Amino acid sequence: MIFFFFIIIFQSTIASTISLPSNTSEQHALLSFKSLISDSHGTLDSWNNTLHYCKWRGVTCSQQQRVISLELENFNITGSISPHLANLTNLRRLHLSKNHLHGHIPQELSRLAMLDSLNMSYNSLNGEIPVNLSNCSNLRFISLANNMLTGALPAELGVLSKLQVLSLNENTFSGGIPPDLGNISSLTGLYLYDDGLEGRIPDALGKLTSLKIFQVVGNNLSGEIPPSLYNISSIQFFTAGDNQLVGSLPPSMFQTLPNLQMLILNDNRLHGQIPVSLSNATDIVELDLKGNNFSGIVPSELGSLQKLYWINLAINQLEARSAEDWKFFTSLTNCSLLGTLELSKNRFSGELPRSIANLSTRLDWLSMEQNQMTGSIPEGIGNLVNLTVLSLAKNRLTGSIPASIGKLKKLHVLGLRKNNFTGSIPNSIGNLTQLIRLYLEDSGLSGSIPPSFGNCRSLSELNLSHNDLTGAIPKELLSLSSLSTYVDLSNNKLSGTLPAELSSLKNLGEFDISENRITGQIPSAIGDCQSLEQLFLNENLFQELARERMDMGYVTKELHATKAMLLRFGIEEGYTC
Ligand SMILES: *[C@@H]1O[C@H](CO)[C@@H](O)[C@H](O)[C@H]1NC(C)=O
Ligand SMILES: *[C@@H]1O[C@H](CO)[C@@H](O)[C@H](O)[C@H]1NC(C)=O
Ligand SMILES: *[C@@H]1O[C@H](CO)[C@@H](O)[C@H](O)[C@H]1NC(C)=O
Ligand SMILES: *[C@@H]1O[C@H](CO)[C@@H](O)[C@H](O)[C@H]1NC(C)=O
Ligand SMILES: *[C@@H]1O[C@H](CO)[C@@H](O)[C@H](O)[C@H]1NC(C)=O
Ligand SMILES: *[C@@H]1O[C@H](CO)[C@@H](O)[C@H](O)[C@H]1NC(C)=O
Ligand SMILES: *[C@@H]1O[C@H](CO)[C@@H](O)[C@H](O)[C@H]1NC(C)=O
Ligand SMILES: *[C@@H]1O[C@H](CO)[C@@H](O)[C@H](O)[C@H]1NC(C)=O
Ligand SMILES: *[C@@H]1O[C@H](CO)[C@@H](O)[C@H](O)[C@H]1NC(C)=O
Ligand SMILES: *[C@@H]1O[C@H](CO)[C@@H](O)[C@H](O)[C@H]1NC(C)=O
Ligand SMILES: *[C@@H]1O[C@H](CO)[C@@H](O)[C@H](O)[C@H]1NC(C)=O
Ligand SMILES: *[C@@H]1O[C@H](CO)[C@@H](O)[C@H](O)[C@H]1NC(C)=O
Repeated sequence: MIFFFFIIIFQSTIASTISLPSNTSEQHALLSFKSLISDSHGTLDSWNNTLHYCKWRGVTCSQQQRVISLELENFNITGSISPHLANLTNLRRLHLSKNHLHGHIPQELSRLAMLDSLNMSYNSLNGEIPVNLSNCSNLRFISLANNMLTGALPAELGVLSKLQVLSLNENTFSGGIPPDLGNISSLTGLYLYDDGLEGRIPDALGKLTSLKIFQVVGNNLSGEIPPSLYNISSIQFFTAGDNQLVGSLPPSMFQTLPNLQMLILNDNRLHGQIPVSLSNATDIVELDLKGNNFSGIVPSELGSLQKLYWINLAINQLEARSAEDWKFFTSLTNCSLLGTLELSKNRFSGELPRSIANLSTRLDWLSMEQNQMTGSIPEGIGNLVNLTVLSLAKNRLTGSIPASIGKLKKLHVLGLRKNNFTGSIPNSIGNLTQLIRLYLEDSGLSGSIPPSFGNCRSLSELNLSHNDLTGAIPKELLSLSSLSTYVDLSNNKLSGTLPAELSSLKNLGEFDISENRITGQIPSAIGDCQSLEQLFLNENLFQELARERMDMGYVTKELHATKAMLLRFGIEEGYTC
């Protein structure tokens, strides 16, 4: 043991005392790089003459003392990139990502014939990608993502036959995707999202038979998706959302994409049916077709996709009328990993399937709002204990809101407005202690507002307007200091007086109890609601208002502590104090 210990000390002593042979040319190139850098964090302090350049922080040399990698990722350096770096002719890795580098990418870097990996992502580089970079024929990885690069993508990059990853996302290029990129047969990842690219997706990209990741989200791409892309059986992530793509998806499309894990085509102008072959994409995890013009029924075998985690089909023209049409929904009960199911704004009609209660208990987001569904919400909805968002708003649902809704303890948002329910708001609403937003307006509800609301200690936004609610406004509700955005109880048949507890509403911005039957006085405590900007009390039976019609002097006195408010007390014009 002790013997080894001495050897180690001995060796390290030799290493630090015996000076390494130096190559002044390499050292000069590094110092020239440093000369354009401002390094306020001192990350390049070790780059000084007392230390051999091969020991400088971020520098790695070969045995011949030639610099083979420069890895300065996240070094907090500012400045521009010296063209003299091109003198490090043995450089294989140049990693300068996550700094504050600006200026152009020097075209001299094209002399780095051995360069294997170039990463300058997350800087503020501008200008064009130098065409000459195509001379670095050994490049396997390029990332210039997250910069301010402009100009056209050089078609010459197509000659980089060893390239595996080309990551140019989040720049502001002009022009289109050069078809020449289709020549890079070794390419596995092509990242061109949020790049300002326009024109068509070139058919030639279908030649990229090793491609696994194709990301062109958030450009201005138009035209059809070239069918050649559906023959790239290696594809795992195909993301082309937020473009202006047109056309339809061929019915057999998924038969040749057995490795597909993610298909993102949201917010385009695609139409036609969702391909029946979808069930062949057995590895699919995420499917987003939101915001297109897809029509027809959803393929009934959807539920055979065991890995499905995320489905967004919202804002299309999809239909379901018969039980047969709804098969897809029931089949989804087989998807035990399902986390998001978004079916809003389509033409789904007929009864809300009972099978909703058998969807995965992992489900976090379920929305079917703005469809034409009838029937009632089954008691079994309470099984979906992981839901944070549940919206069935703007349908034609009837029956009562099941008490089991109180089991959905993780709910943040509950939207059931604009339906045709009967009965009252279940008491169990008070079990939803994480609820932030509750929308129950215009949904046929009667009975009184449950005092259990007082337990909804996260509630910020509440709308119970346009129902048939009766009884007094519970003081427990108006004691909730979490209420901040708005409380709308207007257009009901609420009676009784306004509880003085409303002084707790210190964060509330808007309070509307207009068109009810509230009596008594306007409590002076309302003056404590310091964030209130809009207050609607009109069409009630307040004493002062009934007797004196409108005594602004009284009201403004009570509201002296609040900031500018718009008050409407059943008179035409607004009043600002
Ligand atoms: C020093 O490096 C330069 C350029 O990197 C190279 O041309 C030269 O041969 C090297 N000299 C020695 C002695 O290694
Ligand atoms: C890099 O090499 C070029 C040409 O070989 C030379 O003119 C230049 O001075 C060198 N740069 C440094 C910093 O040594
Ligand atoms: C040179 O770098 C070494 C290692 O970081 C450091 O200990 C030394 O103080 C530096 N010398 C000067 C003059 O900055
Ligand atoms: C850059 O600065 C950040 C924040 O000050 C620090 O966490 C990080 O370690 C620094 N990077 C280097 C390479 O020192
Ligand atoms: C880069 O290419 C351009 C045009 O092809 C040429 O004019 C320039 O000299 C090249 N630069 C280097 C460093 O090779
Ligand atoms: C690539 O390098 C060769 C020779 O070094 C040169 O002739 C050619 O013009 C260069 N091409 C580009 C695009 O810089
Ligand atoms: C480039 O660097 C960034 C930041 O570290 C990293 O996330 C990315 O994977 C790298 N890309 C390539 C192609 O090496
Ligand atoms: C890519 O391949 C096509 C067809 O073989 C060819 O015409 C084109 O010049 C190539 N592009 C590059 C940049 O090599
Ligand atoms: C696609 O799925 C259908 C029905 O599940 C099956 O019969 C067919 O063999 C599958 N085709 C491929 C290419 O996997
Ligand atoms: C709720 O979701 C979490 C995370 O996905 C999961 O671990 C947990 O098992 C789920 N609970 C139920 C009852 O499924
Ligand atoms: C609501 O909570 C109370 C008290 O914890 C409990 O007795 C009741 O069963 C709960 N109701 C629902 C629907 O979860
Ligand atoms: C709501 O239900 C009531 C009573 O059942 C019925 O009269 C009314 O037409 C329904 N409204 C809608 C929009 O379905």
